[in-house]
Amino acid sequence: MAVTKISAKLRKLLQQAIARELQVSIQYMWQHVIWRGVKGFAVKDAFEEIAIEEMKHAEKIAERLFYLTDEVPTTKPDPIVVGGNLKEMLQQDAKDEEVAITMYKEIIQLAESEGDVTTAEIFRDILKEEEEHHDTITTLLEEV
Ligand SMILES: [Fe+2]
Ligand SMILES: [Fe+2]
Repeated sequence: MAVTKISAKLRKLLQQAIARELQVSIQYMWQHVIWRGVKGFAVKDAFEEIAIEEMKHAEKIAERLFYLTDEVPTTKPDPIVVGGNLKEMLQQDAKDEEVAITMYKEIIQLAESEGDVTTAEIFRDILKEEEEHHDTITTLLEEV
């Protein structure tokens, strides 16, 4: 059992973070699969690359949660919205990245307030990547 003890609130937020990482991981990978047209060709690799990073985030958070609490990480993704065309896909993805950025800032603050330095550090690294995703997605959105 871990030396660090976390609050029920932080535990719940970690589970919620895993659910959304699973969601976007599947969402982006399916967007990678069903791309169409010339503009789709330009973004299909970005969808795949980001999808894989999201799955790695899910893994990191799940490992941390399991270490801290012995609680089994959720296997249920948040609702997946693939979108009907490229613009809808990218608009949805930009929103999902914004949700992640807000939630992970909250997790960093809460973890720090509980003295859980490592969780805060893990989420700082993930937050950096979410900001990069948001930048990539909103830049692609300008082109469609
Ligand atoms: Fe992520
Ligand atoms: Fe992301």
